[in-house]
Amino acid sequence: MNQALFETIDRYIDDLFVPAHPVLDEALRAAEAAGLPDIQVSPGQGKLLYLLAKLCGARRILEVGTLAGYSTIWLGRALPDGGRLITLEFDPAHADVARGNLARAGLTDRTEVLTGPALETLPILQERGEAAFDMVFLDADKANYTAYLGWSLRLLRPGGLILADNVIRGGAVLDPDPTDESALGARAFNAALAAEPRLESIAFQQIGAKGHDGLAMAIVRQ
Ligand code: SAH
Ligand code: DHB
Ligand code: MG
Repeated sequence: MNQALFETIDRYIDDLFVPAHPVLDEALRAAEAAGLPDIQVSPGQGKLLYLLAKLCGARRILEVGTLAGYSTIWLGRALPDGGRLITLEFDPAHADVARGNLARAGLTDRTEVLTGPALETLPILQERGEAAFDMVFLDADKANYTAYLGWSLRLLRPGGLILADNVIRGGAVLDPDPTDESALGARAFNAALAAEPRLESIAFQQIGAKGHDGLAMAIVRQ
């Protein structure tokens, strides 16, 4: 591993493809000031989420795991007028920071931060009769990823897109019996994703400023 090189290359890519954006920079500052962990997606990963949302023409996006709303801003900025993004966050303090960041990004009208454990808020979405989502981004507690996969299948439209962050965990998912619970969750999720007949899926490893991890991607068969 050559972490210093990965970071230099991430900077090179960001300088070329991810123009500095004051609202995103301010969101990171607000997260740091509030003492939130520095585990949001990297700028390049944010741009990738943004491009994938545009690529699938997403008008309705569901995110599980908001933190300070950094990825939420990237996804929200990909929505067309009239689009909607619901993001689920366990920690009320994180949700507060995220709401402030989304307000500064001008996204309050099209976003909703729902506070509580996602396994309690996902059923609320179903009870509300929310219209089907075009895209789901999973980025919360890895131990519940397989359960979130089940909910994604319930809430997505045919052809909808699932993205899941942190599915490689520096290779810890190779261990058939990982001690780390996030690696255990990611490994179970990857197996469930691959075995799910209603989906076509792939995972790819990512290296960069955030170390070595990976993103899984699936589309719901039509
Ligand atoms: N998507 C964010 C990063 C999310 S970090 C970004 O890239 O900007 C993971 C978040 O998931 C944390 O804020 C954590 O509080 C939240 N989380 C953990 N367990 C959760 C649960 N059971 N339900 C909802 N959110 C949860
Ligand atoms: C962790 C969570 C994430 O979503 C991430 O991208 C990196 C790390 C964590 O809980 O350690
Ligand atoms: Mg993540």
